[in-house]
Amino acid sequence: MKFSPGSAVEFRTFLPSDHERLVQLWHECDLTRPWNDPADDIRQCIENPSSELLVAIAGDILCGSVMMGCDGHRGWVYYLAVDPKTRHQGIGRTLMDYAETWMRARKVPKIQAMIRHDNLAVRGFYGRLNYRDGDVQLVQKWLTDETS
Ligand SMILES: CC(C)(COP(=O)(O)OP(=O)(O)OC[C@H]1O[C@@H](n2cnc3c(N)ncnc32)[C@H](O)[C@@H]1OP(=O)(O)O)[C@@H](O)C(=O)NCCC(=O)NCCS
Repeated sequence: MKFSPGSAVEFRTFLPSDHERLVQLWHECDLTRPWNDPADDIRQCIENPSSELLVAIAGDILCGSVMMGCDGHRGWVYYLAVDPKTRHQGIGRTLMDYAETWMRARKVPKIQAMIRHDNLAVRGFYGRLNYRDGDVQLVQKWLTDETS
């Protein structure tokens, strides 16, 4: 970890009192989209035994997050975020270390992240952590607006 001398960063499970600041962080990190409701994503995550939401706290301020989930076949990370003011200090790497430990504890063989095509900056981060491009094409279908 590369935290500056004297600084202490705590990593812990999300608490309801983190909610407002966490959603603000996701907005600041450009992780929200009009078609995703962050409050509902948080609710689903904390209600589901196969997922967990971890946050990083520096000086009493929530400055990072990662959402982890496994479906029994693969593990996924979502909402990986570090406050722009506290980047390049090892917080993102540590959040991913926690995520990998969480997956290993559940015997998940592979951890994956979906990167939006226009998020070029984060590719370098994942590369530093030895993540490689998967030879897959994501396909998807919205189930929310279907009419019968
Ligand atoms: C990606 C993100 C979480 C990185 O957080 P961070 O705390 O700055 O990352 P770290 O300091 O732990 O960096 C870990 C390593 O990655 C490198 N790194 C970090 N950001 C990088 C970037 N944009 N490009 C290339 N390398 C990068 C660091 O230099 C460091 O390398 P080293 O440890 O080998 O010296 C942060 O930039 C962020 O929140 N981005 C916006 C949200 C986002 O895109 N999330 C991912 C959605 S898929």
